[in-house]
Amino acid sequence: MSRQPARIGILISGRGSNMLALADAVSEGRIPGAEIVLVVSDRANAAGLARARERGLKTVAIEREGRSREEHDRATVAALKEHGVEIVCLAGYMRLLSSYFIGAYRNRILNIHPSLLPAFPGLDTHGQAIKHGVKWTGCTVHFVDETLDGGPIIGQRVVPVFADDSEESLAARVLEHEHQLYTEALALVVSGRYEIAGRRVRGLLN
Ligand code: GRF
Repeated sequence: MSRQPARIGILISGRGSNMLALADAVSEGRIPGAEIVLVVSDRANAAGLARARERGLKTVAIEREGRSREEHDRATVAALKEHGVEIVCLAGYMRLLSSYFIGAYRNRILNIHPSLLPAFPGLDTHGQAIKHGVKWTGCTVHFVDETLDGGPIIGQRVVPVFADDSEESLAARVLEHEHQLYTEALALVVSGRYEIAGRRVRGLLN
């Protein structure tokens, strides 16, 4: 008997290009054994929500509405559980998760960050990279723990920084790699062919 597909929930706040890349990858069979069952946004006007709906994905907006971080996270986790979500992918989700959320999906939450972590965590990543004068940057998919962009690294890709790069040109170059990396990293996690040993994720990626 074949296994049921892993149920994926994706959290967004904005345009959702990584979410769409994962949706395309799932529908094209590049993430075997995965199904995207819910897209959640903390902003009702996120462009990505409409794009998810156009693809026929189930969506829900759960706005903060003056709630504390944990109250908001409880509502989000309740929606994810209601839809049977097993793996959560943060894709441009602009809120830090509470320890309640992280505990509810321990080692089952992935995030993508547009730098080679631990370099340049947090916001203004490409601005930080350009100001620092690095010649190479990249992107990272990692499990989410209580630290900011600091959980165990699943995969990374290296991208060159050119002398005449603006934040926008660099962001666009990195984004193409993000879409590929996130697909590979999620496929690895869905396959279950990895183990977490301390900070190290040992798998078939890289
Ligand atoms: C991406 O660069 C991602 O790495 C970062 O926020 C951006 C989101 O872009 N966390 P999109 O909404 O997936 O297009």
